[in-house]
This record gives sequence, C-alpha cells and structure tokens, in this order.
Amino acid sequence: MNKVTVLGSLNVDTILRFKRFPKPGETLPLAGKSVAGGGKGANQAIAASRAGAETTFIGKVGQDREGNFMVRQLTDSGVDDQYVQHSNAANTGTAFILLDQSSENRILIDGGTNQQVTPADVDAAKQVIAASDFLVAQFETPLAATIHGFELAHAANCRTILNPAPATTAVPAELLAVTDLIVPNETETETLTGVHVTDEASMVEGAHKLQALGVANVIITVGSKGAFWMRGQEHGFVPAYRVRAVDTTAAGDTFIGALSSVLKPDFSNLAEAVRLSNRASSLAVQKLGAQPSIPTYAEIAAADQVTTD
Ligand code: RIB
Ligand code: NA
Repeated sequence: MNKVTVLGSLNVDTILRFKRFPKPGETLPLAGKSVAGGGKGANQAIAASRAGAETTFIGKVGQDREGNFMVRQLTDSGVDDQYVQHSNAANTGTAFILLDQSSENRILIDGGTNQQVTPADVDAAKQVIAASDFLVAQFETPLAATIHGFELAHAANCRTILNPAPATTAVPAELLAVTDLIVPNETETETLTGVHVTDEASMVEGAHKLQALGVANVIITVGSKGAFWMRGQEHGFVPAYRVRAVDTTAAGDTFIGALSSVLKPDFSNLAEAVRLSNRASSLAVQKLGAQPSIPTYAEIAAADQVTTD
C-alpha cells in the first residue's frame, strides 16, 4: 500500500444547477442547490485514501464552520489531518460550481486560507513527506510552498506528482526540475507547451515538450476521451469508459488520487495505473458533487463498464 501526502486546497463547494445561464438582466429559478466538500487538494487526498493509500494532507482552513466541515470530510475518509492548520487570517476556501444542462462545469473560487499556505507549513510536515512514496500538489495553493515541498520530497527520495491545475501561464523551471510526473489536461497542456491537443500525434508532441522541461513521466488527461501516458521513450493511450456524466467536477482529481494510490514508485506500472484511474474517474462523473462522487477501491474494482475506442 502506498503512502501518499497531498499538499493543496480545501473548498466548500456550493453547486448551483440550472437549465441555462440567465441573459444579462434576466432572472431564472435554480433547478437545484447543494453543498459538498471540494478543493482540488482535498479531492485528490480523499480519492487516494478511498483507493487504498495511507494518506496525509497538508493545507489550511479558517477557524470557521466550513473549516471544521472540510476537516471532517478528510478524516471521515481516513485522511490524516494532523498537518491541516486552522488559521484566523482568512475564511476557509469556497467555490461556486455552475452546472447547466451540459455536464461541463464552470467554477468561481474564493481561495481564502488556501492562499496562506507557506513553506514553513510544509516544513512542519517534513518527516511525513520523507516517509511517503508520493507527494502530490496542484495550483490552488501558493507556488512557494509547493516548490519547497517538492524539494524536500526529492531530497528524501519521495516521488512528486504535479497536477498543474488550474492552468497558469508558466510553471517555474525550479518546480519542474523536482517533478517526477506531471498530469495536465488538454487545456493545461496547451498553456504549458503551446501544443494544441487534438490527436495522439499532438499528445506525443506535448509530452515531449514537457519532458524537455525536465519531467520524465507525463500523463495528459483528455476528459471523456481518455488519457495519454509517456514514460521515457514509451507511450500509449488508454480510452475512457463510456458513461452518462451528470457532473464532471473532481473527475481529474479522482484520477490523480487513485493513480497515486496504485502507481509503483518506480512508475513501472504506469499504463496499468492509468487504466484503473480512468475507471475511478468514470465513476466520479456519474454522481453529483466533488467528494461525494469519489469511489472506493472496492467500487473501482467492481465497476464493469464499456471502453470507448
Ligand atoms: O477540481 C474540482 C475542484 O476545483 C472543486 O471541488 C472546486 O472546489 C475547485 O477547487
Ligand atoms: Na462528480
């Protein structure tokens, strides 16, 4: 069983469902409103833990009800919360998820305490990072903390997985130098490499550019199509399962969390791990909400679905 540490964000998600977006000046009734645990970091930690990893979270919540709610989401799923700090410097992160009838979402975020995670907070968890197989991070917490965490991980032979989401303009070279596996989606791949991902040839080109930046292992996730992987010279494409999506929120997070749980630290089973992670995210898109939709290992193993090709 892998030991996984996730450094990242926690958000209380308010999900607003409606038939269509109102026009300027127009008022429309909602079709539904609900609240669920979210935040890319917390989603990935819960996905790792439910998929079987011994998981620790590094992050920050406010001293408010939302903070207690988010910590409970982690601990209820077996994630160790001893490195989650409670700060009165800001409110707990919140996100508003807008879902119209296409299952694709639009998200607005108030980062709150996620923006206050510091290199010193990461330093406090130095021992647990050193004892982990993988350290996982995203871009919803400050870069300085992530760079520090990845440097600590590298010095201690803990492998690092970077999910460069949400996409920013550039990833600093010093972070890529200590990244062992990068997992962007197609939009993030274009932001990072300038390559517009359309077919397998463009995925190969994008992945080569990421390798040239210093990352040996690359996975490009392409939503309902599947995922492309590259390890050294080897590469392949794993098609997604054909399912009816109701909410794609946390599909990518579920993929990454499950991956960190089943991937061998030497990356030798990358293709197999991608297959299982595809299966996990195909389950997550069939349920509403981020954290409520993340499957357990038993659910992933039992899922009998159709592969697209
Ligand atoms: O990746 C999905 C997540 O992004 C949501 O849970 C939301 O909180 C935002 O952080
Ligand atoms: Na979902």
